[in-house]
Amino acid sequence: MVRKRRIAAAAMALTVLSVALTGCNEHKSPKGTIGITLTSKTEARWVSDGNNMVKALKAMGYDVDIQYAQYDVPVQLSQVENLVAKKVRGLIIAPIDGTTMVNALKQAHEQGIPVISYDRLIRGTPDVDYYVTFDNRQTGVLQGKDIVDKLGLKQGKGPFNLEIFSGALDDNNAHVVYAGVMSQLKPYIDSGKLVVRSHQVSLNQTATANWDGATAQARMDNLLSAFYGKDHLDAVLAMNDSIATGVVSSLKSVGYGSGGTAMPVITGQDAEVPNVKSIVRGDQTSTIFKDTRALANAAAQMMDAKLSGRPVTVNDTKSYDNGAKVLPSLLLQPQLIDKSNWREKLVTKGKFYTAQQIEK
Ligand code: GAL
Repeated sequence: MVRKRRIAAAAMALTVLSVALTGCNEHKSPKGTIGITLTSKTEARWVSDGNNMVKALKAMGYDVDIQYAQYDVPVQLSQVENLVAKKVRGLIIAPIDGTTMVNALKQAHEQGIPVISYDRLIRGTPDVDYYVTFDNRQTGVLQGKDIVDKLGLKQGKGPFNLEIFSGALDDNNAHVVYAGVMSQLKPYIDSGKLVVRSHQVSLNQTATANWDGATAQARMDNLLSAFYGKDHLDAVLAMNDSIATGVVSSLKSVGYGSGGTAMPVITGQDAEVPNVKSIVRGDQTSTIFKDTRALANAAAQMMDAKLSGRPVTVNDTKSYDNGAKVLPSLLLQPQLIDKSNWREKLVTKGKFYTAQQIEK
């Protein structure tokens, strides 16, 4: 009997000890947890966005619960719902489809959880506090202008054949980038100096679901066989790097880039490693560098300022109407990268990549 009681007492002591230890392990930072959900790991940029945000928020004393939704809209919605149920202190969200989280964000606000829309616009709800992104219109302007410059259209050259590959329709950025692109290309399309043989020019006709490279590759295959039998395609407006990768593969499979058939001018966006390599090789012409370290830091600072009651820095209060309100936004500047400046912008000055990462 006594022995049994001793064993019971010992077991109890062990339980108490382990509860205490677990309690220790689960010790939460006094500043609380920031919940993050990002679209997907498909593009390397989102992984770098996520890692940089975790680093910045941890340095500020927060815990971070970060999740990726792999382009699955219901999965991302349940991630948001779970983070709200866990009572995180703040939410940072890059939505796949900007329109799908109205109710979940209403709940977040009812619980006093601030919400930052990260890179992509959350739409149709007043329950978003701030937007931090790159100047997406400027991204499109730089892409369109690069086609104009590299083809020599201002110098009167042409006509040239062009095809357009836009991003995902459910991503507001694709709409804003498209407007920037068209501000540069439309005058030449209208004057006949740029000819789109497929006649697919509108955002709807040129969209690529989920910015998916394989989808873009399949569409390029179709366009090449339907419209470019003997004729040369001179330029492709590819709205991001995964699309550019698909376009390059398709073109190579029909002989572009060899035997005297020059690659078209091909744009991109995100300055991903394989694409910078492709620029160095001469397959892709340019990309847009958006320094995800700066964006991640800006988001972390915004959240910390909001939660600490300090003023939040924004530089645009007009451009991003999400359908329910105009979001106070912080817009960072994108930069054009091509063969002439990649080393300076991305390596020597930018310190974003090492030369070895690109040249090995
Ligand atoms: C956009 C973003 C681009 C690109 C794309 C694909 O929202 O602005 O930089 O990453 O998503 O994920």
